[in-house]
Amino acid sequence: MKSNWWKDAVVYQIYPRSFNDSNGDGIGDLQGIIEKLNYIKKLGVDIIWLSPVYESPNDDNGYDISDYRKIMNEFGTMRDWEEMLAEIHKRDMKLMMDLVVNHTSDEHHWFQEARKSKDNPYRDYYIWRPGKEGREPNNWESVFGGSVWQYDSLTSEYYLHIFSRKQPDLNWENEKVRQEVYEMMKFWLDKGVNGFRMDVINFISKIEGLPDAPNPENKQYVSGEKFFINGPKIHDYLQELHKEVLANYEVVTVGEMPGATVEDALLYTAEDRKEVDMIFTFEHMDLDKQKDGSKWDIKPLKLTDLKENLSKWQKGLQNKGWNSLYWNNHDQPRVVSRFGNDKEYRMESAKMLATCLHMMKGTPYIYQGEEIGMTNVAFHSIDEYKDIETLNMYNEAVRINHPQQVMESIYAKGRDNARTPMQWDDSKNAGFTTGEPWLKVNPNYKEVNVETALKDPNSIFYYYQKLISLRKEHEIIVHGDFSLLYEYDEQIFSYTRTYQNEMLIVMANFSDGETLFELPNTIIYETKQLLIHNYDVREEEKIEVCILRPWEARVYKLIN
Ligand code: NOJ
Repeated sequence: MKSNWWKDAVVYQIYPRSFNDSNGDGIGDLQGIIEKLNYIKKLGVDIIWLSPVYESPNDDNGYDISDYRKIMNEFGTMRDWEEMLAEIHKRDMKLMMDLVVNHTSDEHHWFQEARKSKDNPYRDYYIWRPGKEGREPNNWESVFGGSVWQYDSLTSEYYLHIFSRKQPDLNWENEKVRQEVYEMMKFWLDKGVNGFRMDVINFISKIEGLPDAPNPENKQYVSGEKFFINGPKIHDYLQELHKEVLANYEVVTVGEMPGATVEDALLYTAEDRKEVDMIFTFEHMDLDKQKDGSKWDIKPLKLTDLKENLSKWQKGLQNKGWNSLYWNNHDQPRVVSRFGNDKEYRMESAKMLATCLHMMKGTPYIYQGEEIGMTNVAFHSIDEYKDIETLNMYNEAVRINHPQQVMESIYAKGRDNARTPMQWDDSKNAGFTTGEPWLKVNPNYKEVNVETALKDPNSIFYYYQKLISLRKEHEIIVHGDFSLLYEYDEQIFSYTRTYQNEMLIVMANFSDGETLFELPNTIIYETKQLLIHNYDVREEEKIEVCILRPWEARVYKLIN
């Protein structure tokens, strides 16, 4: 296998609960995935990233693991998983598993033991502290609301949980914990998995002493982020993990890293440091929230902010690290609703967004349903939502805000937007299940579904397929240097990639109106080739000056 094989690759993420249900219990499963592998292969992707399928009480849909070496009953058995892996490999694709080791479930055997007594051999697998003056050990707020500390009356101490109280944080200071994680990773690697997506991996090292966070407004709890994000030992831990495990396998790794900057990413992804191959940044996902607000305090996206940010990452990692490129995953709202126009221009804007992303330098990730332009959902009642983060926020926020206002934030940002079942066809429940789906299907499934997309040669699906095949045909898409054009324009997103004597120019209109595009006169070329476009364009049309229609995107290859 060639080293860095993942640089040419495209990844497709499956959120198993919502992908395809083969046994009618309303929950997606492994046999359901197997049924759809030909569909995924048809898109042309190389790697499947599978969100957690391990045993879990599902407080956070599998991101709370109670046994790392077992498959969740609802999803099937280890046999099903092995069959799935073999079928993926048979189709010449690879499998990236989710690695969730910042925390376990409180139902994990280690935690069950740890709770029992202060001198239990597993006690130190987690982070326990006595209370401080009758209160929690510090003032940090959990990502899902409330304190990060949960009191356990069995031993009269608190344990730390950055996410829900059913997700106690592992104590990475403890060498035994690290060894357990390495052994567990080897267990899966020896079964043949090809890589890991590492859940909030830059949270695993906490600052010594776990001090209170500054709290000028005297709130009950405040963000303790700077005490556990990119903590003091994070690079040591990742390098050790690489040395002990990854160095012995040809695998790909991507670290999910909220709060990581370009400077951090350079450290995490520089090849000679041997930590991870790429990271997921969150910066571009935070541009439509109010400064200093939470993700729920929304504001409209400014295109110039987005361009500035993406360009900073492109240039910052150029030839020194590697980017992962994404608009969507199981935690983010649907991009066509978020940054595009999911009404009059659903098809055009979905294709435009795909173009802007896939032509940048890095490894693109496609989240299930993105390839058919699935949209956000707006369920009438909060009772129809299932996500723990959404429900916790709602219960807190309705104490001070009007419920309708809170629902608006959920419509824009709630994680269930991404988790509604995959829309396969226009039959009942979108062909996802013959039973009652665990989360309601988006009512637009009659129009937006895989069957319809596969019948239409102009569909978003075939556009993604084309983008992926272009990556395989033109090395410039993988290797070319990035340069942003029209930095200050609020409608046009345009950039070039250059490689040897070639240039790629991406021209996109990020708006509902028409806009005039003028090719900078510094760009000189002999021949041009139109690689992809989402409106009819005559190949011979001049690009020195042209009108871009609403959400239009074109990519030309210019040769000198
Ligand atoms: C990030 C995952 O993507 C998200 O779904 C989960 O809730 C948290 N990490 C905690 O594991």
